[in-house]
Amino acid sequence: MIEIRDLWKSFEGKEVLRGVNLTIEDGRTTVILGPSGQGKTVLLKNLVGLLKPDRGQILVDGEDITRVSRRRLFEIRKRFSFVFQGGALFDFLPVKENIALFLRMHTKMKEDEITRRVREALRVVGLSGTEELYPEELSGGMKKRVAIARAIVSSPKYILYDEPTTGLDRTNARAVNGLINKLKREYGITSVVVTHDIECMETVADKVALLKEGRMFFVGRKEEVEEKYLDYLYQLEESYGI
Ligand SMILES: Nc1ncnc2c1ncn2[C@@H]1O[C@H](COP(=O)(O)OP(=O)(O)O)[C@@H](O)[C@H]1O
Ligand SMILES: [Mg+2]
Repeated sequence: MIEIRDLWKSFEGKEVLRGVNLTIEDGRTTVILGPSGQGKTVLLKNLVGLLKPDRGQILVDGEDITRVSRRRLFEIRKRFSFVFQGGALFDFLPVKENIALFLRMHTKMKEDEITRRVREALRVVGLSGTEELYPEELSGGMKKRVAIARAIVSSPKYILYDEPTTGLDRTNARAVNGLINKLKREYGITSVVVTHDIECMETVADKVALLKEGRMFFVGRKEEVEEKYLDYLYQLEESYGI
């Protein structure tokens, strides 16, 4: 479980997060919706210690990561994977090496075990046999699925997705949403999904948090969002020019 308590973050005097409170339950998918430029990415980066908040607490399984040593943060971070917007694959590495990277850097795993894990991760995302391809040979949707394969290869407890469906066509977006659900169902993975894509929210969310002006102004069920906050949903898509 992750508990975000009264989180504040500003850049050069501009307040981006202004007292965020949110609980991320284990084995569930929490979707954070918010307009463009309102601090969604900043919030995700705080959750893994890539940014440090000005104030507040982030309790990861009971431990406040804003106060632990760098070494301890490094340990806690192993429970997380981050699927960056755009996928963030290394163009000069084939698919298998993009996925193996974490295992090579952070474990002493043997070569045949790495190969086995990479193959399994690719199978889960439906891309068996693409090991030797380079990112430039993949479609946008395939790149995103490789990014997800890379996220699961380290057997994380938490996966954080930053705008996982942005830039994808409807078919690929649905494939990604399906994967997020599959990882929850089959592996019990806890996901945090930041998005402005309403279909994504409808497909994957167990819990929805609406971000506005640096705070969560609503946290609850998606059915309630669709009933009560339609105007907000329209504004959201407008802010992204949809
Ligand atoms: N490292 C940074 N330095 C300065 N300003 C930043 C930094 N990261 C984000 N910001 C600012 O914080 C605000 C929120 O950014 P971001 O979290 O990327 O928004 P989004 O909700 O679109 O993901 C923006 O105004 C952005 O310019
Ligand atoms: Mg962002």
